[in-house]
Amino acid sequence: VKPVVVKPVVAVEEEEEDSSVKRVAVFFGTQTGTAEGFAKAIAEEAKARYEGAAVFKVVDLDDYGADDEQYAARLKKESLALFMVATYGDGEPTDNAARFYKWFIENGEEVEIGLSGLRYGVFGLGNRQYEHFNKVAKKIDTALAKHGAKRIVEVGLGDDDQCIEDDFTAWKEKLWPELDALLKDQDAPVTPHTPYHAAVAEYRAVTYEPGTKLFVEEYAAKKNGQAVYDALHPCRSDVAFVKELHTPVSDRSCTHLEFDITNTGLQYETGDHVGVYVENSQEDVEEAARHLRLPLDTIFSLHVDAEEGQLLAGSLPPPFPGPLLLETALRRYADLLNPPRKAVLTVLSAFAKDPEEAERLKHLASLQGKEEYSKWVVASQRSLIEILAAFPSVKLPLGVFFASVAPRLQPRFYSISSSPKFSPSRIHVTCSLVYGPSPTGRIHRGVCSTWMKNAHSKESSGPDGCSWAPVFVRQSNFRLPVDTTTPIVMIGPGTGLAPFRGFLQERAALQESGSTLGPAKLFFGCRNRTQDFIYEDELKGFVEKGVTELILAFSREGPQKEYVQDKMLEQAGEMWKLIRDGGYLYVCGDAKGMARDVHRMLHTIVQQEEGVDSTKAEGIVKQLQVDGRYHRDVW
Ligand code: 2AM
Repeated sequence: VKPVVVKPVVAVEEEEEDSSVKRVAVFFGTQTGTAEGFAKAIAEEAKARYEGAAVFKVVDLDDYGADDEQYAARLKKESLALFMVATYGDGEPTDNAARFYKWFIENGEEVEIGLSGLRYGVFGLGNRQYEHFNKVAKKIDTALAKHGAKRIVEVGLGDDDQCIEDDFTAWKEKLWPELDALLKDQDAPVTPHTPYHAAVAEYRAVTYEPGTKLFVEEYAAKKNGQAVYDALHPCRSDVAFVKELHTPVSDRSCTHLEFDITNTGLQYETGDHVGVYVENSQEDVEEAARHLRLPLDTIFSLHVDAEEGQLLAGSLPPPFPGPLLLETALRRYADLLNPPRKAVLTVLSAFAKDPEEAERLKHLASLQGKEEYSKWVVASQRSLIEILAAFPSVKLPLGVFFASVAPRLQPRFYSISSSPKFSPSRIHVTCSLVYGPSPTGRIHRGVCSTWMKNAHSKESSGPDGCSWAPVFVRQSNFRLPVDTTTPIVMIGPGTGLAPFRGFLQERAALQESGSTLGPAKLFFGCRNRTQDFIYEDELKGFVEKGVTELILAFSREGPQKEYVQDKMLEQAGEMWKLIRDGGYLYVCGDAKGMARDVHRMLHTIVQQEEGVDSTKAEGIVKQLQVDGRYHRDVW
């Protein structure tokens, strides 16, 4: 059974040391590939800069060590390391950095790892709109220093809300002189600065005759007992049931979907996330192939061994196994709809036949073109496909397209909306449809939510390719208290309701099996009870059974908007009493708006109910988090 994304999962082999060549490790913690791309960019630039004097190794943090001991042993041996690490969700590390982070930050506080022989630099990828801006990078930076390592450059705080590539460029400008001092022979003549865009990373692409046997593409329907299903080893799961949750009068759509996990070996806990790999639409795939000027049935494979003069795509293997059809590659592995990063525009400029197009692309990617890039590309949400259409003279080789132009299509994560106590053989997902005109007038359809809307069980008819998907479960720490009598407060408007539906199913099952339940309050909000009051009957059923109390906020019914936080304030006394008495607070949903406002409201309520000033209230809320009694599942 083959994984969707092929990448070695074993720890990197130790290599023979050549003491005359300095080794620099460029680690990445990446979720959507940006940090990985930055790590590769550094390695490529360094290659030209320190030819012969140093090797830059790009390393996935997950592959660095099989266990904590190996992490420690290897890190102690490094003399120079750069970390490109993203912060994700509620101040968390990316999945591939989670193990390292747990060892180094969460468990490593007490242990002394002697890193006095290490020099380092950290660049963080984050978004200022979120509360824990670049928390992971900051923590790693501080911890490295604490263990005795020497910082050669101030931690870089990349902000994806603006142009993170410009932040990265600015950070590199500070990094290179420091590296020069460490790696360059100081007597050697000064070599001119070689910017990254002079070189385009690519794979060696091999095309095959029609009829060549393809790499086995389909996942055999698995009835085996593979122990671990993760992002690299997803499990084929059939769609068992789909239903629309909005009423017909709603102009939006929200899908309830159930994946059948019978006999797959896949397991989940209430509060976990499911990662789902889906495919681009046929229309987008066809259009991308047109821009590549290749027929959809082109059979090809990608390789990392070089042909003369080629600059290969770092040290990482290609994103998929071959030979395969171009159609399959575009459908499953290429992100075609996100606005391209500046580095991509630079690559396109190198392949534009028309000099005017090349100039314009170069300008968009330059510092001077910053404003135009943020308007014409980012704010307009211009997709990669739209950009290719706007520059018709660009002709991209396949090896360049997959190495340097199209990012890998990423799995989408959803908070599972069921409990295994209620639904052991099915994973439920609650997903609202992303659909609407983009600023350029293109109709933007969310890749995964559109797939879910079109999904159907094997028995019922519907579009091809929508009756199963590769999925995997990601553990979360969004868990009910162990003691069922502990009070809980849940805040989850819109699809933020998802994990709480799981919580309530679990509580109902516990009640049925004789457990005593503590009090529970669920704050749910939506626009209008006649349109998007999802799972209304089920929620009312839970209220009737005494599984929860339900407090509703409808934002578009009355003359004034009512949000969940307004209801929290109305119930401040009662709600705070539950939490003060040892209760747990859970928030799920939109991070930038709702969760932030709810957090502020909590702070206000603590001030009011405890009669304390703002600083004290902050301390109380912090303590709740430290005690593991304030959990957030936000995106
Ligand atoms: P609105 O779209 O009418 O503004 C689920 O999406 C519900 O969350 C909707 O009723 C939505 O209201 C509401 N919502 C939007 N922004 C919010 C915020 N900052 N805090 C709380 N609820 C919000």
